[in-house]
Amino acid sequence: MTRSPAPGGSGVGAARAEVVVREVRPGDREALASLFEGLDPESRFLRWFTGGIDLLQAEDWAGHPERVGGVGLLALVGAEAVGHAVLVPDAEDRGEVAFEVAAPWRRQGIATSLLDRLVAAARARGLREVHADVLGENADMLAVMRAHAAPHAEQTDGSVTHVSLVLEAPA
Ligand SMILES: CC(C)(COP(=O)(O)OP(=O)(O)OC[C@H]1O[C@@H](n2cnc3c(N)ncnc32)[C@H](O)[C@@H]1OP(=O)(O)O)[C@@H](O)C(=O)NCCC(=O)NCCS
Repeated sequence: MTRSPAPGGSGVGAARAEVVVREVRPGDREALASLFEGLDPESRFLRWFTGGIDLLQAEDWAGHPERVGGVGLLALVGAEAVGHAVLVPDAEDRGEVAFEVAAPWRRQGIATSLLDRLVAAARARGLREVHADVLGENADMLAVMRAHAAPHAEQTDGSVTHVSLVLEAPA
């Protein structure tokens, strides 16, 4: 099923107009730390596929997407980061995406909105595919990827489903 974008094209529900999405900037380290450190163990496992993630390293990495040629986005309510997403090019024409949304803010379209923005960034860079490795039990992340307007393809390898969005060439 393809979900329609919210009015205004943000993808975040109209009731959540206070959520602002912008690129990660130098100085966002504290906001990222607070988001990552607030994730419960299950969420950390769903995101990083390990319970033993080095959060300091993850925060440093997320705070500097330019180091890997990527794009990082924050969803903010005031100064509080309620969501983060990253696009990391991993081949000439494709990039991998990953997301974290704070538990109280889930199921309100934030990851959907972040994905819309990352797909637009990928298109602007001439990428033809955006993909994510998602654990099979991660129904919400699978739903976010599958609901995107771009055609998708999936391949399951053990517990991981590899979901690819195929982006058409720019008009
Ligand atoms: C997976 C994750 C990023 C999803 O974030 P999210 O902001 O809750 O995602 P969305 O709200 O955009 O979409 C998730 C679900 O909410 C639904 N939803 C979206 N907007 C909604 C709204 N206004 N009202 C009710 N439900 C809504 C979506 O339809 C989807 O549900 P579905 O399964 O019925 O289709 C979040 O659960 C998370 O951070 N999990 C832990 C880390 C993780 O798994 N990261 C992904 C690894 S790649």
